[in-house]
Amino acid sequence: MTTIQVPLSGGRTYPVLVGQGVTSQIEKFLPFDAQRAAVVTQPGIGVSVDLNVDCKIFNIANGESAKTLTSIEDLCRSFVDWGLTRDDVIIGVGGGVVTDVAGFAASIYHRGIAVVHVATTLLAQIDAAIGGKTGVNLPEGKNLVGSFWQPASVLCDTENLSTLPEAEMRNGFGEMAKYHFLSGEKFDHLDLEERIARCVEIKASVVAADEKDTGGRAVLNYGHTLGHALEVAKGFDIRHGEAVAIGLVYAAELAYNLERIDHERVLEHRQVIESYGLPSALPVSMSDEDLLFAMTRDKKAVEGFTFVLDGPNGLEIVKDIEEILVRETLKKVR
Ligand code: GLY
Repeated sequence: MTTIQVPLSGGRTYPVLVGQGVTSQIEKFLPFDAQRAAVVTQPGIGVSVDLNVDCKIFNIANGESAKTLTSIEDLCRSFVDWGLTRDDVIIGVGGGVVTDVAGFAASIYHRGIAVVHVATTLLAQIDAAIGGKTGVNLPEGKNLVGSFWQPASVLCDTENLSTLPEAEMRNGFGEMAKYHFLSGEKFDHLDLEERIARCVEIKASVVAADEKDTGGRAVLNYGHTLGHALEVAKGFDIRHGEAVAIGLVYAAELAYNLERIDHERVLEHRQVIESYGLPSALPVSMSDEDLLFAMTRDKKAVEGFTFVLDGPNGLEIVKDIEEILVRETLKKVR
């Protein structure tokens, strides 16, 4: 088992535990005076927590459709019915949808109560459950309403990954591939548990340096500009991790075209993506126009495009990239 601290100001530093069976340690990580624990989960998760305090399960719907303001209102009203107080605790048990919803509800219930996450997917363990970003979707777009609300602790039980469907693991591998380039190191010698712990360490240091996402935290979006465009483009179904994988290769090709990195480094991106069995080419049915449109979110690209790109100083935000270059580079991932 590995414990990684997310070092935050104002006594809010919290531990992330990574290892086989760490869920059994949850009692130690609850707030000292909590009398009740509201467990927010989804019916499909199938992971239970064993607690000595009074505990009740609050199910939200399965899937992304649970990320609504209605879910938040329903949860908060159920918490009141049950008598959950501001000294108690909410426990989110699940993947990113659960940690986003449970975290957001915790941030506003009684103006904020403690939340502990038991992250059950690879994606949640290395990204969603750590760093305090919470939120829900609006019909107008994803994650448009939310808050920064750091958990009191996060448990990443690798035992839960053994029953995770392959598609869900690939979803996490796309994010894991990203971390290779955030730190500039190779993970080849690490096993899965060690890789998860290393990803958590890297994320913890990025979050500690820019908790509220005002600058440096943007590097966590490496590969996500094209990745998000692939996810939102109409009429096509692609998992987040696969979209990010293609986005990483694209970002490397773009950095190469801007003479920020050499050919070797582009190959390295392709090799890492391949090592996780992830795609590196765009779906044939997706037109350049649709992707360019999605990447600018319907804004005229008069100021050029902004990407997180690799370069001599590592990952950086690069602004004002000309549309012609963005368009030309798409050919490299066709
Ligand atoms: N998932 C990106 C972030 O936490 O900032």
